[in-house]
Amino acid sequence: MLWTRRSFLAAPAALALDGGSPVRSTPLRARHFGPLYYDDSEWTLLKEVWQTRSPFRFWNFENRLPDKTATLEREFAAKMGVKYALAVNSGTSALEAALAALEVGPGDEVVIPAWTWHSCFHAVIRHGALPVCAEIDESFNLDPARVEEAISPRTKVLMIVHLQGNPADMDRLLPIARKRGLRVLEDVSQAVGASYKGRRLGSMGDIAAASLQVNKTISAGEGGMVYTNDPLLFERAVRFHDVGTLRNVHQEWLGAARLEPVPGSNFRMTEFTAAVLLSQVRKLDRIVADIRAVARRVYEGIADLPGLKTRLLPDPAGELGVGVYLDLGSRQARDVFLKAMRAENVPASAPSGSVILPIQNYAEKKLAVHPEWPSFRAGRGPEIRYGAASCPRTIAILDRFGGVLLDPKLSERDTQDIVAAIRKVYPQVRETAQSARA
Ligand SMILES: Cc1ncc(COP(=O)(O)O)c(C=O)c1O
Repeated sequence: MLWTRRSFLAAPAALALDGGSPVRSTPLRARHFGPLYYDDSEWTLLKEVWQTRSPFRFWNFENRLPDKTATLEREFAAKMGVKYALAVNSGTSALEAALAALEVGPGDEVVIPAWTWHSCFHAVIRHGALPVCAEIDESFNLDPARVEEAISPRTKVLMIVHLQGNPADMDRLLPIARKRGLRVLEDVSQAVGASYKGRRLGSMGDIAAASLQVNKTISAGEGGMVYTNDPLLFERAVRFHDVGTLRNVHQEWLGAARLEPVPGSNFRMTEFTAAVLLSQVRKLDRIVADIRAVARRVYEGIADLPGLKTRLLPDPAGELGVGVYLDLGSRQARDVFLKAMRAENVPASAPSGSVILPIQNYAEKKLAVHPEWPSFRAGRGPEIRYGAASCPRTIAILDRFGGVLLDPKLSERDTQDIVAAIRKVYPQVRETAQSARA
């Protein structure tokens, strides 16, 4: 009797891919976090901007000063545990302003992960400096064991990017930067609200950049933030974002100007954007708690799967939980996993939201062979080689992983379906050492 029951339990359910019945009847889909929380509070603040006819952040024709962007900056800085925050119009602008603050220019190198968003590479290039890509590890973030290979005497900045809600291993990365005399720029775009060992991301390096575009934790469609504890870096970022100027609202915050005007751009945020983001930042803790609860239900539901290998989490308690990623052992097995999960109506995907930078056309085909590029003339450009051969470990890791993206408003039922689909598919398609030999 016991034997019959055991063998019944052990019999794997037929995958929907093979004609079995799917876990769900309709496809599950993760939605954008911020807009899921829109309610009257965004609307009320937006209406105030509209009614006061005051869409520009620094002045209007009334006596009352516009206050949405300035208030957003104060509240965002407090939330992140830093002294200063500057609102800008995108995460890409935030990266450019942060690099300007760090005075990155021709002849400098900036170490960035080989797997991250285009903006990290482009922001460095737009300052005339050279991006040098370093391998990632199974956290999908910079591999602390490999980062020193990318550092040279010309390296000025280590850009630590916390990807897909997962904090990078700061306990190992920060001492390397300190030992080598590098400034640290944290890119928190994909992990706003996450923390590392109790400290908010972005508060541990010299300066941080974040995106508030629609795929991020809180959003007004577009938007960005630069934040830091350093008044000098803050002033440089402020000036860079507003054609060299330092207006009253920031001068008062800083106490006094320390710098002369510098050439800059216009990355200012509008009061409409700030109105939405001000309401959103007040909801950040709730969104973070909700997405963490969803992720926890999934992790707990699959924890006992034999041989389970999930993405490396340097601080599981600080992670956001935007997706649960599994190591399938090989690209072939991963691709079967994705197909099989889709058939169960619980779509899974390869790691997304970033690109392998060294194999992008602009890096591999253009920059690598373009001796006229300013950063190449000034630096050790010709030594730097992009392309697949420069990041084999990054490519191998991203090939093996597949995962399910989550959103903070997935129901208990949705997470049960995710768990059921993973429990059904993963053991049947994962490539183990044994199956690889077979
Ligand atoms: C890691 C990272 N950095 C920077 C950015 C750029 O942000 P934005 O799209 O707001 O310019 C993104 C956007 O996806 C990102 O993922």
